[in-house]
Amino acid sequence: MSIRYIEDTRQLLLETDSTCYQMKIDNLGYLQHLYYGLKIGENDLNYPYRLYDHGFSGNPYDMRDNRAYSLDALPQEYTSFGVGDFRVSSIAASCSDGSRCAEFRYESHEIRSGKYAIPGLPSVYDNGDTVDTLVVTLIDTAANIRIRLYYGVFEELDIITRSAEISNAGQETVWLRKASSMCLDLPFGGWDLIHFHGRHCMERQFERTPLFHGIQTVSSGRGMSSHQHNPFVILCSHDATEDDGFCYGMMLMYSGNYKIEIERDQFDSTRVVMGVSDDRFRWELSPGTSFHTPEIILTCADGLTRLSHRYHRVIRNNVIRGQYKLGSRPVLINSWEAVYFEQRQDKILSLARQAKDLGIDLFVVDDGWFKNRNDDNAGLGDWVPDERKLPDGLDGLIGKINEMGMRFGLWVEPEMVNEDSELYRMHPDWALTAPNRAPMMARNQLVLDLSRDEVHEYIYHTMAELLTRYHIEYIKWDFNRPLSDVYSHSTPSPRQGEVAHRYYLSLYRLYERLTSEFPDVLFEGCAGGGGRFDAGMLHYTPQIWCSDNTDPIARLSIQYGTSFGYPLSSISAHVSASPNHQTGRVTPISTRATVAMTGAFGYELDLDKLSEEDRADIRAQIVRYKELETLLHEGLYYRLSAPTGDSDCVVWQIVSPERDRCLLSIVVTDPPANSVPMHVQLKGLDPDALYDVGGEFTCYGRALMHAGYTFLQLTGDYPAMQVDIKKLGT
Ligand code: DGJ
Repeated sequence: MSIRYIEDTRQLLLETDSTCYQMKIDNLGYLQHLYYGLKIGENDLNYPYRLYDHGFSGNPYDMRDNRAYSLDALPQEYTSFGVGDFRVSSIAASCSDGSRCAEFRYESHEIRSGKYAIPGLPSVYDNGDTVDTLVVTLIDTAANIRIRLYYGVFEELDIITRSAEISNAGQETVWLRKASSMCLDLPFGGWDLIHFHGRHCMERQFERTPLFHGIQTVSSGRGMSSHQHNPFVILCSHDATEDDGFCYGMMLMYSGNYKIEIERDQFDSTRVVMGVSDDRFRWELSPGTSFHTPEIILTCADGLTRLSHRYHRVIRNNVIRGQYKLGSRPVLINSWEAVYFEQRQDKILSLARQAKDLGIDLFVVDDGWFKNRNDDNAGLGDWVPDERKLPDGLDGLIGKINEMGMRFGLWVEPEMVNEDSELYRMHPDWALTAPNRAPMMARNQLVLDLSRDEVHEYIYHTMAELLTRYHIEYIKWDFNRPLSDVYSHSTPSPRQGEVAHRYYLSLYRLYERLTSEFPDVLFEGCAGGGGRFDAGMLHYTPQIWCSDNTDPIARLSIQYGTSFGYPLSSISAHVSASPNHQTGRVTPISTRATVAMTGAFGYELDLDKLSEEDRADIRAQIVRYKELETLLHEGLYYRLSAPTGDSDCVVWQIVSPERDRCLLSIVVTDPPANSVPMHVQLKGLDPDALYDVGGEFTCYGRALMHAGYTFLQLTGDYPAMQVDIKKLGT
């Protein structure tokens, strides 16, 4: 068992192969956090050093004679509220008597084998690994609130998951105002915060800042996990690098409004509270009911690379599901940047013929294929093929593409509606709009109120009908605006604070129904590029369109940031036209392919306009990608340089788990005037093995890792190179 209870000291110990998490039920019944970090054995770390007079921090009534004991200073597993821990709280509620306080004490605990599930929400699953669950129950008998804290311990993966269930154990309604998934107190240490911020077309930019005293917040109130802040943070020691220095990873498996609060307090302790955002949140907890919080995926490791490898492994094996999770993905061509809204049969078939000739597996018809969809003003909601554009119907088009020997995929945006649509004319109250107020418009569209059962059913039937009637093998599920005016016309006014979260409960249920009824369809997530790139969505969609910015040089920093938490197989990336449509930058097709291959690979450009030379290159790229796919998706990813700072090239490396194959990729972002030699020290190779390096020379792994590999910088417009490194023997 990876979970133990030590009776004498009332400690609970969770152990993975190399990490350990400890907590303790103290004499008053508070559940104190003791430690999370590298394995240390079962020492009793009960923090006597925390027990000193903390000045202006008060003491629980039972400890009124002991000024040293303060909830404001002790590390907690989940906080009480309103009773003297003045740091960021993990929960807030108002009780029927109007009181807004609760003090949670230990009631019981249970250790089970296997991984808990969270009703209605995606969670990390047990995949035949050694996984145990700890449930600790806390209760406040005045507020009648019971909290069950769930811990999943994935021993070999070095992953610990957390979630909380908050129940009303009384006879009166409780109004939840904040319900976080976890509180993690780090009593010691100075930390840097790494987070991934951005905007549309520039998602997940790496940023690292030291924590200041006070509260730093990473959050989204946009009704989506957002382009602006990814629900994933790393706290690392100030000296942490890719290879060394202690790092904690904290990832929220949720796609809606969320909040991560990181507080460095008066005693230099750090507290992290994360979960569903409490902004505009209010949940009616009637007697006997529970609220389940989304999952947190935790790990800690020496060095950022090791931390990323753990996330890549758990997301690939225990988050993503279905036949595509480990299997080969089709190389696809998406029609968007080739024709935009002009999705006409003749042109599509011409592109498809070219695509087939180049070796592409699947053709995706993007936005514009349905009635009245000639621009972004109309059509969303009415998912009927436009017969003017597709004279042989969708069926006819798919038949012709299938006859060519290619599979077919379709773009949809099921959560949205245009005012100019039959659906909106019939059901204006199905959109999220507040009474007596003109709603915010974004891309001329409104968001359907998925918290309503009729809307859920409408979308389900529309999608199920499309997937049953047509031979569709891939769906790109888009989502092109944030949620605003969040008001449901079918929800009583006191419960409007539930709508944003109910939206996601309904979306997850919808995805669950569709992915289990159509298990052969590959679903790709998308939200105006990578606006909903999170572990919640990855439970249903094995890959997500990473960004609407397809410029390979811009993609370097987008994919670099994304790689800290998410595996390459989840990062959808395409070779597009040059000059690039978003930035105007000119890049060689080899550079575009080098970057796009570091993901779920595809193309998105007008193939009719290719030169013979490009055509030959693309043919070779596809053959190469297919040969490399297993290495690219199953290999260990090493960031050898960052696309930030003064580096003039970006270098990364992928090494097979057996260390017999390695792909080194280099993109020059700032070509030097003379061909200055560049030098990189490779990582992850077998030190004793002899490798063939790009067919040019042989060298031992130890030499490539310590002495390094030297190459002459290429000059020109953003050149790239890939070096194949193959083990010859030991
Ligand atoms: C946004 C997506 O990210 C694009 O790839 C494209 O599908 C457009 N929407 C279509 O409207």
